[in-house]
Amino acid sequence: MLPRLVFFLLLVCCGGAAAAAANARPCVSPDSARAYPFCDATLSIPARARSLVSLLTLDEKIAQLSNTAGGVPRLGVPPYQWWSESLHGLADNGPGVNFSSGPVRAATAFPQVILSTAAFNRSLWRAVAQAVATEALGMHSAGQAGLTYWAPNINIFRDPRWGRGQETSGEDPAVAAAYSLEYVKGFQGDFGEEGRIRLSACCKHYTAYDMEKWEGFSRYTFNAKVNAQDLEDSYQPPFKTCIQEARASCLMCAYNQVNGVPMCAHKDLLQKARDEWGFQGYITSDCDAVAIIHENQTYTSSDEDSIAIVLKAGMDINCGSFLVRHTKSAIEKGKIQEEDIDRALFNLFSVQLRLGIFDKPRDNHLGPNNVCTKEHRELAAEAVKQGAVLLKNDYSFLPLKRSEIRHVAIIGPSANDPYAMGGDYTGVPCSPTTFLKGMQAYVTQTTFSAGCKDVPCNSTELFGEAVEAAKRADIVVVVAGLNLTEEREDFDRVSLLLPGKQMDLIHTVVSVTKKPIVLVLLGGGPVDVSFAKQDPRIASILWLGYPGEVGGQVLPEILFGQYNPGGKLPITWYPESFTAIPMTDMNMRADPSRGYPGRTYRFYTGDVVYGFGYGLSYSKYSYSILSAPKKISVSHSSVPDVISRKPAYTRSDGLDFVQIEDIASCESLVFAVRIAVSNHGKMDGSHAVLLFARSKSSVPGSPVKQLVGFERAHTAAGSASNVEITVDPCKHMSAANPEGRRVLLLGAHVLTVGDEEFELLIEA
Ligand SMILES: *[C@@H]1O[C@H](CO)[C@@H](O)[C@H](O)[C@H]1NC(C)=O
Ligand SMILES: *[C@@H]1O[C@H](CO)[C@@H](O)[C@H](O)[C@H]1NC(C)=O
Ligand SMILES: *[C@@H]1O[C@H](CO)[C@@H](O)[C@H](O)[C@H]1NC(C)=O
Ligand SMILES: *[C@@H]1O[C@H](CO)[C@@H](O)[C@H](O)[C@H]1NC(C)=O
Ligand SMILES: *[C@@H]1O[C@H](CO)[C@@H](O)[C@H](O)[C@H]1NC(C)=O
Repeated sequence: MLPRLVFFLLLVCCGGAAAAAANARPCVSPDSARAYPFCDATLSIPARARSLVSLLTLDEKIAQLSNTAGGVPRLGVPPYQWWSESLHGLADNGPGVNFSSGPVRAATAFPQVILSTAAFNRSLWRAVAQAVATEALGMHSAGQAGLTYWAPNINIFRDPRWGRGQETSGEDPAVAAAYSLEYVKGFQGDFGEEGRIRLSACCKHYTAYDMEKWEGFSRYTFNAKVNAQDLEDSYQPPFKTCIQEARASCLMCAYNQVNGVPMCAHKDLLQKARDEWGFQGYITSDCDAVAIIHENQTYTSSDEDSIAIVLKAGMDINCGSFLVRHTKSAIEKGKIQEEDIDRALFNLFSVQLRLGIFDKPRDNHLGPNNVCTKEHRELAAEAVKQGAVLLKNDYSFLPLKRSEIRHVAIIGPSANDPYAMGGDYTGVPCSPTTFLKGMQAYVTQTTFSAGCKDVPCNSTELFGEAVEAAKRADIVVVVAGLNLTEEREDFDRVSLLLPGKQMDLIHTVVSVTKKPIVLVLLGGGPVDVSFAKQDPRIASILWLGYPGEVGGQVLPEILFGQYNPGGKLPITWYPESFTAIPMTDMNMRADPSRGYPGRTYRFYTGDVVYGFGYGLSYSKYSYSILSAPKKISVSHSSVPDVISRKPAYTRSDGLDFVQIEDIASCESLVFAVRIAVSNHGKMDGSHAVLLFARSKSSVPGSPVKQLVGFERAHTAAGSASNVEITVDPCKHMSAANPEGRRVLLLGAHVLTVGDEEFELLIEA
């Protein structure tokens, strides 16, 4: 969102009032259906939408093209605010959600997405999305929230410096895709009839958006140069799943350009969503993304040309007022025809009709009492526990024994700051518990010292006080890491190290404590904590992302062993040296000829601080693959191809591969892997089981390994449990070739889970 937009919203419109008025409905009276076909529930949704479009004047139509859509009083159509936010709980970053007028004053702040992702538990992701949806409907019934939400953020976390990486499901396209499926299905609901939904979710930001600001570059004008190979197997998969499988009803085009074309004007990529992925819904611009096409990107030579290019590309609505202001003139200048607007309105009204916005309300018993419930708080706590990643735990220092600890010191600038817990897109939490408060509930004698005035920590002024607190305590917990002061929307990091003098604070504290300390790390992006990994005086490191409002309550439960952590990192933790790589280099694959190490565990060739999928537990687990096919046979399609293509499989450089599009039936290749998980520890535990695959042939540009499936498993102490992981070779074992076509390498592949390996032959 741009500052100018905020200004305009305040000046011209009325976010809260629009949301409240959204509860007025034109189609409830018995006569309405007779008067207006768009109210006639016996007609199809497309017919109703077309009818409504046909009734509007040009001015009424133009007023629909903003997130703050105008009403049509003569038809009883209320104004509507399209922009509400729900990334990890309801948030008032958009004007559709309003905590200051009405009975709902707060909403459950679930952990930031990167932390929930680390749980690798699909049921958890869905449950959280359903809970957020429940709160959205409850808040909507009070006129304080809309029905259309601009979440999830499913861009891949490409560069560790990205300020919004915290909002995503990490660096793996398959994980981001799986998360989007659960989020959208859980959030939208599905009534089965004519695509009816209870709420609308939005796959954003389409596509290759993953940088805010770096040196002279900004997200508003950046041209992401993406090759066909990376586009196909890194940037697009989450969007494809979000549209094709999850059936999201909204797609947001990003600010940036892709290969020289602004995304909201990128006809090929926008149409691909509709034509190839079957997208049905509306395409919104990111906020003010149309205004910048001329003004800042100088891609067009006038504002009217920008409007023409986006409407003709398939964008339907603009976040901001730009289209409301300039569309009339675009028509007058002959840049667009009224039909171009009608096309967009058809998509917008179809979504509103699918949501039932104009009709008699469905039996919806949800209200303000369904917001900030005990169940939602418990679910939020569950998400923090499942997501927490134990990075280091020398000689089983954790869990702490409560009987041996009388006095805890909790040190760090965020340890008593409720605002440090939420991350980007946090609304007003119901009842935030800081780490200090949470610890005090466990150990009465808990001393707090900030150590640093704030997260940027550029002074040692408070070190003395921290040292005093540390000296007196039986155990010292230092809470360090990031905050929105370091990483946020419109703001990337420049360093991967702990901010300011935080590292000095830790060194100072460990030099005076009786025992080794516990380091708790906050933040969405990875931090280079090599020093802490190596320092024996730091016994344990626990990453808690942005844990949301219950973070403080959960921390002692983990430290004292009431919960056995089992989350895994959804992102590579790179060393500081990675910052030598330009953030603007979109290439995923390593290129040794220019010293480029590649990005993400699939391609990165350099050293890591902690790798993707890393995470310890209080138990030690081992795995054995009980069953998996030793061989799968790919049969290629016998349908003659009119376009002359390469043969189905080609032998070149001694390598065999088959193009996915030539495989007769991908479904028939899907197989199950049964894994026995043994818990060798003294505690029961639930943890993430990640199954990877790699090809035994080394092919340039081929991933080092890929996640082919995951499942969270609960295993009792000293026993074993089985998990079954379904693998779709076409989808998860393939990769794109340089032309952007997916291929599956034939020959030997290796499935790995922990130290266990299993060889699988793919033959044609
Ligand atoms: C919330 O609604 C009130 C009353 O309509 C309004 O004064 C206020 O500006 C709204 N707040 C936001 C953030 O839109
Ligand atoms: C996955 O999450 C759900 C919802 O919180 C929970 O009930 C289930 O126990 C979790 N699975 C495991 C194996 O921990
Ligand atoms: C776009 O350009 C205008 C005019 O130069 C400037 O005021 C505005 O800040 C720019 N916006 C962005 C996002 O760079
Ligand atoms: C964390 O960031 C928020 C938002 O920028 C700020 O209000 C808060 O003071 C920060 N906390 C610390 C301890 O720096
Ligand atoms: C901390 O650093 C920032 C930026 O370098 C500076 O603006 C600020 O005054 C410093 N604060 C203190 C307390 O030194």
